[in-house]
Amino acid sequence: EKGGFPSFMDKEIHDQPQAVADTLLGRMDPSGRLVLDEMRIDESLLKSIDKIIVIACGTAAYAGQVAKYAIEHWCRIPVEVELAHEFRYRDPIVTEKTLVVAISQSGETMDTIMAVRHARQQGAKVIAICNTFGSTIPRESDAALYTHAGPEIAVASTKAFLSQIVACYLLGLYLAQLRGNKFQDEIRMILGELQQIPAKIQRILDETAQQVTDLAIAQKDTESVLFLGRHVGYPVAMEGALKLKELAYIHAEGFAAGELKHGPIALIDEGKLVFIVVPSKRGRDSLHAKVVSNIQEVRARGARTVVIAEEGDEEVRAYASDVIYVPASPTLMAPLLTTVPLQIFAMELATVKGLDVDQPRNLAKSVTVE
Ligand code: M6R
Repeated sequence: EKGGFPSFMDKEIHDQPQAVADTLLGRMDPSGRLVLDEMRIDESLLKSIDKIIVIACGTAAYAGQVAKYAIEHWCRIPVEVELAHEFRYRDPIVTEKTLVVAISQSGETMDTIMAVRHARQQGAKVIAICNTFGSTIPRESDAALYTHAGPEIAVASTKAFLSQIVACYLLGLYLAQLRGNKFQDEIRMILGELQQIPAKIQRILDETAQQVTDLAIAQKDTESVLFLGRHVGYPVAMEGALKLKELAYIHAEGFAAGELKHGPIALIDEGKLVFIVVPSKRGRDSLHAKVVSNIQEVRARGARTVVIAEEGDEEVRAYASDVIYVPASPTLMAPLLTTVPLQIFAMELATVKGLDVDQPRNLAKSVTVE
């Protein structure tokens, strides 16, 4: 069942082009209009919402953080992203005009289930973004938008994460379409960009995985790794760090690159391994320049810099110990690509350390206790 791969995780990383393609499948009519049949929430209500709160845990919450940038940009609706277990125990402002989006691969995460119940009790409508048909979270929600990633067996989430981002983007575009925030041809163009993602992931798997594996082998004795990113690269950095903690049991932290000088830069010393997720230069020149100067800052203090950048970005080379290139894509699509080398790095580092990548210690695939 591992399809010839040494682990489920390895297989699931390789399933990602298909997972993204399947999550997009059948969601557009011939005229290019987005059709989300599952969205059984009254359209007038969806038009009137004034806030979105995403609730989730772990990797699913990072998918929500990525989606926040896209949904706010496309729909001009404020989006809060909150860990489900935190949401529940404060006094969140939830009204009938709040749309709650619960993201969960398993649909059985108790923290998220309890947060869904809490939100609905207060009159919010809840949409579940879920990978497991008929599980508790979609059953208890007002509507469900399924990710079609296929079963995810490895404890560390990979293909579910990318599918969750895609599903959130579909939701964001659907709301934009419904509310008239975006013209139809713009929506069609964004969907067209999403449709190019599977082939681009495949190229990373075919052309870049070996470089990342070699790097992981060379770094097998590393004790601490930092990940930096800005904008959508920030949740990607946190996801890269989580993968490494879960699988290789080494200290790893993801930071917003702009936060470096406010404290974390004190952690940098000679040889410290730092991954930096660099945004595309096209369109967001200032963002790119800021991240390049962050690379310089850590490099000047002796860090070993592993830069994840877009093909053709020659500027980063001067400050990079290693550059891992991913295919070019618009800024909001980049997480669907830049995450992949980080997943491979964590898996290969755990493998070279002789660890069980599918069943890391102390973890369960679905966390059914609070
Ligand atoms: O099944 P869920 O998506 O609700 O699970 C949420 C988290 O427990 C999960 O993403 C966890 O963080 C993974 N082990 C990450 O790899």
